[in-house]
Amino acid sequence: MGKLSGQYALVTGASRGIGRAIATLLAAEGATVALNYRTGATEAQALAQELRERGSETLLLQGDVSERSAWVDMVQKIRTAWGRLDILVNNAGITRDKTLRKMTDDDWLSVIHTNLNACYFGVTAVMPLMIEQNHGRIVNISSFVGQAGNFGQANYAASKGGIIAFTKTAAMEVARHNITVNSLAPGFTLTDMLSKVPEPVQKQILSRIPLGRFGKPEEVAKAVLFLAADGDYITGQQININGGVYM
Ligand SMILES: NC(=O)c1ccc[n+]([C@@H]2O[C@H](COP(=O)([O-])OP(=O)(O)OC[C@H]3O[C@@H](n4cnc5c(N)ncnc54)[C@H](OP(=O)(O)O)[C@@H]3O)[C@@H](O)[C@H]2O)c1
Repeated sequence: MGKLSGQYALVTGASRGIGRAIATLLAAEGATVALNYRTGATEAQALAQELRERGSETLLLQGDVSERSAWVDMVQKIRTAWGRLDILVNNAGITRDKTLRKMTDDDWLSVIHTNLNACYFGVTAVMPLMIEQNHGRIVNISSFVGQAGNFGQANYAASKGGIIAFTKTAAMEVARHNITVNSLAPGFTLTDMLSKVPEPVQKQILSRIPLGRFGKPEEVAKAVLFLAADGDYITGQQININGGVYM
């Protein structure tokens, strides 16, 4: 029996990268997982098929997490299919890197909407269900950039710092319903998001990481599993999974 047998989870941005690794590990530990994606239908369907072959059923939920209406729709589908939700992982995220001199309002707003507003929509959308069942484990994926800042990422840093502050406040407000809310702050992790960074810049970054390598999506997934399965007395915290790049 897995650590999460009988539990139901929703992972946003599960079609690729860190979200995919999280969904895979939660399913391997017995959870039934809803896979949210925005445009990556083919990738999400391939993951659903892969998990099915390993004996896990999934729910595919297309939706743009930066829109409240998508959350209403996803939670309605989860209520109908399962009647409960134990774990929410707000993972979906984007970058639109530019220095402030070149950043447009659209660059700023789309990153804030997708990374930060989506966490607010997600937490408030699942709260009624989690309060009813007196149980919930919410993990918001932030970034070390939200703690340290990063050149060319003012929009991203603000969204990820906002997630940390939001997480603490949400944790205080829902604790009496046995719902925990924590954030993870990964460092540079090997996904499409990192591969968009030019190679010379990647080399520079690597030289700043004490452990001397980039992180793996599976290493972030392990921390989600820990919080979901064993983190009963952990709330309002941020866990850094960053190879020491920020201490
Ligand atoms: N990689 C890193 O170095 C790193 C470091 C720290 C934190 N993080 C954070 O970790 C999380 C995952 O990042 P990643 O590296 O795995 O990124 P990624 O490989 O670029 O994947 C991003 C995922 O988010 C989904 N997504 C984007 N916008 C969405 C929206 N509006 N609605 C629903 N889904 C949406 C994408 O789905 P579609 O393909 O369907 O659009 C995709 O599944 C993000 O929050 C990111 O900020 C990453």
